[in-house]
Amino acid sequence: MPVRARSSLVLLLPLAVLLSDPAGAAVSGPRHTKAAAADPALEARIARLLASMTLEQKVGQMTQAEIGSITPEELTRHRVGSVLNGGGSSPGGRKHAGAADWRALAQRLDAAALAVEDPVKIPLLWGTDAVHGHNNVFGATLYPHHIGLGATRDAALVEAIGAATARAVRATGIAWTFAPTLAVAQDPRWGRTYESFSDDPQLVATLGAAMVRGLQRGLGQGGGVVATAKHFLGDGGTQGGRDQGVTLATRAELLARHLPPYRAALAAGVQTVMASFSGWHERDRGVDHGKLHGNAALLTGLLKQGLGFDGFVVSDWNGIGQLPGCTPARCAAAINAGIDMVMVPVLWREFIANTLAQVRAGEIPLARIDDAVARILRVKLRAGLFEHAPARDAGAGNDAALVDRTLARRAVRESLVLLKHDRTVLPLARGARVLVVGRAADRLELQTGGWSLGWQGRGNRNDEFPAGQTVLGALRAALGDAQVTHSETGEGVDVAGHDAVVAVVGEAPYAEGEGDLAPPATLRHADRHPEDLAVLQRVAGHGRPVVTVLFSGRPLEVNELLDLSDAFVAAWLPGTEGGGVADLLLRAADGSVAHDFRGRLPFAWPRSACPSARGHGAPLFARGHGLRVAQRTRLGRVAATPHAGCAAPARSPLSFLTAR
Ligand code: BGC
Ligand code: BGC
Repeated sequence: MPVRARSSLVLLLPLAVLLSDPAGAAVSGPRHTKAAAADPALEARIARLLASMTLEQKVGQMTQAEIGSITPEELTRHRVGSVLNGGGSSPGGRKHAGAADWRALAQRLDAAALAVEDPVKIPLLWGTDAVHGHNNVFGATLYPHHIGLGATRDAALVEAIGAATARAVRATGIAWTFAPTLAVAQDPRWGRTYESFSDDPQLVATLGAAMVRGLQRGLGQGGGVVATAKHFLGDGGTQGGRDQGVTLATRAELLARHLPPYRAALAAGVQTVMASFSGWHERDRGVDHGKLHGNAALLTGLLKQGLGFDGFVVSDWNGIGQLPGCTPARCAAAINAGIDMVMVPVLWREFIANTLAQVRAGEIPLARIDDAVARILRVKLRAGLFEHAPARDAGAGNDAALVDRTLARRAVRESLVLLKHDRTVLPLARGARVLVVGRAADRLELQTGGWSLGWQGRGNRNDEFPAGQTVLGALRAALGDAQVTHSETGEGVDVAGHDAVVAVVGEAPYAEGEGDLAPPATLRHADRHPEDLAVLQRVAGHGRPVVTVLFSGRPLEVNELLDLSDAFVAAWLPGTEGGGVADLLLRAADGSVAHDFRGRLPFAWPRSACPSARGHGAPLFARGHGLRVAQRTRLGRVAATPHAGCAAPARSPLSFLTAR
């Protein structure tokens, strides 16, 4: 049995051990400057506020409720300091609420926070998952998910998207987003792979820091929103790509693979960090450190003391309830380990009562509460919430601020990766008669994926994205309706009567948990979507070039689809701007190549449907692969892999940890 490390013992580990990186050198480089030294006036203000606060007020500041589970009156009465809207939650549960509706609720809740009778009145901080644009809000532009931005390798673009997202979020009266995700995803079977920029820690660090800079630009001066580096630490390293699973790594591996993005985000000034649902099992020493929410060594020792992080750590959705002896509404261990604000969406009343009792009983030291609240106040002050909260901004509530179609279209263009180009096919001539097939050609739901107008991103109709365009729509707009034939299945159409076929296929939307591919599930796309293979079989072999565009949240085994295509484009989850896809598929009106492909794979692309003992086998395309239209591949036929399903990994001493 692995030993469960006691957090009190872990706290006593010498800091040097915690901070040593694989090279053995101490963690150095850009640190958060110690708050007190950086801004004595701010620290004095925090101290004054704290000195006048009651314990009830302090615990209220540490509490984050879900907007569907709290009224403004309750927020005042219980002195709750933060709310969130979970995926798919909106003001009054109205999916089509506009910016003004969101802002009106933000205003009511913020006013409720300021309506307390205590001498100290503290503005509310509302957090939302604006993870690819302000994706919970009807009418907002949705940008490519992180994986697509990883393919662009363009930090300036990512920063611009951060700034545009911040503008959209502020327009709804909200000042905090739970983004960027800094996961360094190691296994494409993880259903959150698309939230990861890359499996290269340095690329995640570069783009993550750029996103933080964009989101927080102007923070405290009437612009920007508070960013979140999530999920700390090792969320992308779990065994078998299991969501909320266990990362099996030596200390050196954990730090080398998963820490660089946090250092970069801290250097960029990120104000909050979200703890990971995952656990860490220290491979070489056989020590089970349990879930990150209870890991004092990493949350307090490494992040706060070692790296000098002076913002606050928020727990994930009911995440504290996963610690031994805890429930979602009661967990001294998480707070003592370094969680400052608790995301307790529904059971916030119980959480407040329990935490007050635990402080009074001495289970949570008052000094820990004061530290947590000081951190929360620091972030609220730095964000300018006392002076110019977006909820109180007269200019907020404008739907136009949710939209930036030009920026999104550019991002889509930069994110597409041309994987195969065996014949001179692309770009298609403007005069071409094009047959458009495939389930995804006219479905914004498949183009946007998870975390889009909902948690899992399912059940969204095209007309629910008023600022969106499908690939079919974009091709029609560019070529004219008369030149475009659309048939989703490709059944019964005269392929030879066209100059080229564009097939748009892809994964069904998914998010956390539901997107995991646990054995016997394979990475083979056609196992889940045989209709995508079938449509290509119908349109290939008629003497007309077939260009396939794949929407997916991860690299997949698509060997047979590749074999049936002359050109193959990995388009990730591009969001609402299908025009960016059409820009690359078509020549300009004058026949020139107006926009070339420039995306490069942020992850290696698998050849095999099942991971082997040594990982996912030799890739079909290495990370960094990506063609320009002038380039040809001689890929020829790619052998199909067996379809029998993947075997579950051999039982290891750890399998009790990963058994579902
Ligand atoms: C996810 C987080 C997200 C939070 C709030 C959790 O389940 O892991 O990434 O920010 O929910 O929606
Ligand atoms: C919420 C998400 C949250 C998830 C956590 C869902 O009901 O909408 O925001 O991340 O639960 O399990």
